[in-house]
Amino acid sequence: MAIQFISDTKTFHLMGKDISYLFFINEAGYPEHLYFGPRIGAGDDIRYTRAFGANSTSATPPGVDDVRSYNDYPSELSFFGTGDYREPAVLPVNRAGDRLCELLFDTFDIVGEKPAISGMPSLDGGETLIVHLKDRINGFAADLYYTVYDDCSVIARRAVYKNTGSSDVRLERAYSFTLALPDRDYEMLSLYGVWAKERHIDRIPLHHGVVSIDSKRTTSSATLNPFMALLRPDTTETHGEAVGVNLVYSSSYVLKAEVAPDGTAQLTGGINDFDFSWKLAPGDQLETPEAVIAYSAEGIGGMSRAYHDAYRAHLINKRFVGSPRPLLINNWEATYFNFDVPKLCAIADAVNGLGIDTLVLDDGWFGKRDDDRSGLGDWVVNENKLSGGLKAIIDHVHSIGMKFGLWFEPEMVSEDSDLFRAHPDWAIGAPDRKRCYSRHQFMLDLTRKDVLDYIVKAVSDVIEQNEVDYVKWDYNRNVTESWSRCLEPERQSEFAHRYALGLYDICERIVNGHPGIFFEGCSGGGARFDPAMMHYFPQIWTSDDTDAEERTKIQYGTSIVYPLSVMSCHVSVCPNHQTGRVTPFDTRAVIAHLGATGYELDTTKFTDEEKAAVKLQTAEYKKVQDLVLCGDLYRIDSPFDSGFFTEAVVSKDKSKAELICYRRFVSVNNEIKRVKMAGLDPDACYRLEETGITAKGSTFMNVGFAPKYPHSDFAAVKYHFTRI
Ligand code: DGJ
Repeated sequence: MAIQFISDTKTFHLMGKDISYLFFINEAGYPEHLYFGPRIGAGDDIRYTRAFGANSTSATPPGVDDVRSYNDYPSELSFFGTGDYREPAVLPVNRAGDRLCELLFDTFDIVGEKPAISGMPSLDGGETLIVHLKDRINGFAADLYYTVYDDCSVIARRAVYKNTGSSDVRLERAYSFTLALPDRDYEMLSLYGVWAKERHIDRIPLHHGVVSIDSKRTTSSATLNPFMALLRPDTTETHGEAVGVNLVYSSSYVLKAEVAPDGTAQLTGGINDFDFSWKLAPGDQLETPEAVIAYSAEGIGGMSRAYHDAYRAHLINKRFVGSPRPLLINNWEATYFNFDVPKLCAIADAVNGLGIDTLVLDDGWFGKRDDDRSGLGDWVVNENKLSGGLKAIIDHVHSIGMKFGLWFEPEMVSEDSDLFRAHPDWAIGAPDRKRCYSRHQFMLDLTRKDVLDYIVKAVSDVIEQNEVDYVKWDYNRNVTESWSRCLEPERQSEFAHRYALGLYDICERIVNGHPGIFFEGCSGGGARFDPAMMHYFPQIWTSDDTDAEERTKIQYGTSIVYPLSVMSCHVSVCPNHQTGRVTPFDTRAVIAHLGATGYELDTTKFTDEEKAAVKLQTAEYKKVQDLVLCGDLYRIDSPFDSGFFTEAVVSKDKSKAELICYRRFVSVNNEIKRVKMAGLDPDACYRLEETGITAKGSTFMNVGFAPKYPHSDFAAVKYHFTRI
């Protein structure tokens, strides 16, 4: 039993792999948080930890003796209007216009298998506690879901808000959770970015008041990933406490960390309440997205591994999560929009026999699409450009034993397209206003059923009528003029969440409707790199920045939460198209091979030397692919803090490992830099294959060794450890 209910103290004790989570129903009937951290004794009564500061200004609920203010209780779900002045998780507006609710314990259920969220992805499996809270006056109710796993140190939480009363309720806020923390001695780590610079790391101390991150873009965004970690000030990569929260959500969100005057802190968040409201008629409910909360006592690295384990075991599409990935050649940086059938066939021919197995035809194959000003929405092959149609390329690619992938941007429409000319009202836009352009394109209104059906049919027709093995699903702009012709005025603020529900609906029908096809996610680089997308897309294009040096930071930051298997990384040409930088070919491969890999350059220009290098690189990648896809990641040197990027991937049974060492700059008489390996079994004996040295894991991890970097800037070298 992972979830224990101790009836005499009304305490719930949830036990995950190495963690315990405790709360109890207190004298007010309120679910009061007690503890979240390393596993503690089952059955222990820890209510002795309760401590309340003197608070002369607190408001206590009337009519109950011995009850403190809700402001004083560590909360499982904060609500507003009855004395709790911290960030509420929920704000219902009732018929009389008051915003009051007092959500107190009613009943609970424990179920062996976690119920799915309708219309939204979430983690699967895991014993689940559902605590039913209810307002005793008007019937407004909330169900709190808690799921724990015996194979990973995360707890999945969400709330469902229900109107069981007799009149309409309008939710002005509907967050997924509140998590109380024992004190305020934390720093917040977040992942910020922009196009071609996704998921860089920020770390700032908490202060009295609220620190928050959010997206108002109707997408999870490159600006701030829907992830926040609270770290102790002395927490490092390898030591100390880390609590992470990551939303399984792809639309506008908010996460907040708040320090109260009594020196405690709490985390909350979910759907962004900026530009949000949701009407609940009697009998209606709103399910909120899942928050995956991780705990590690082994620093940021331990927290990352908890997320990687949880997502690989319980979130990412099971058909593909651990299976070898297509090793592809993508034509985007090779040709952009300028290609024809002979050129594409030549790109594939040039890598035939080099270990690359899939040609992905990127943007520009459909409609009247010779640049990014037209054609989106017209998912019909452009025979002027591709004489003989997709069939001509697919037949050729298949005849040389390769697979074929195709690019779509299903959520978009160009103004210059047959689709827009036929259905201008399908594009998102407000009455009497012109639409903003972004990359010269508009967005389709995914809150409309007719639009969803069109997208599903248009994409399905192409992939069913052609032998498509792989799809790249792109998304290159953010919503403006959020408004839908199909929503009543009072429901227009439901737009951002309804867009997400529409997106999940078409993903469900297109991706899960074609189980034989491999789907990759993309968003103008990595701007929609979130757990909900990972549920459908086992790999996501990490960034349009393919420069190896810049990629060290992007991939390091991304790995704070997301497994390497999800990061799509390509070897591209130099001078690099984004930065103009020249890096060694081998370095580009070493960095790109730390993920789901491929090549993206004009292979018809390969020299014989480059062909030989690619053959070797892909063969080496295939030997360690299982480590990259399924192993444990240990980050050793951060490119944010040093001139080095050093990472190890270690098999779960610790029998083999790969170590990647990258040095930014060469200098005359470079300082000697020893690398201490990580993640090995300290008592097992290993051979370092490249040097023949054999030693105990403890020796490699404590004494380390000095990698031999090639004598150049941006140099990389790989080492392999085998247990003997
Ligand atoms: C943005 C993506 O990130 C690129 O890889 C490429 O697919 C372009 N879109 C095509 O328009």
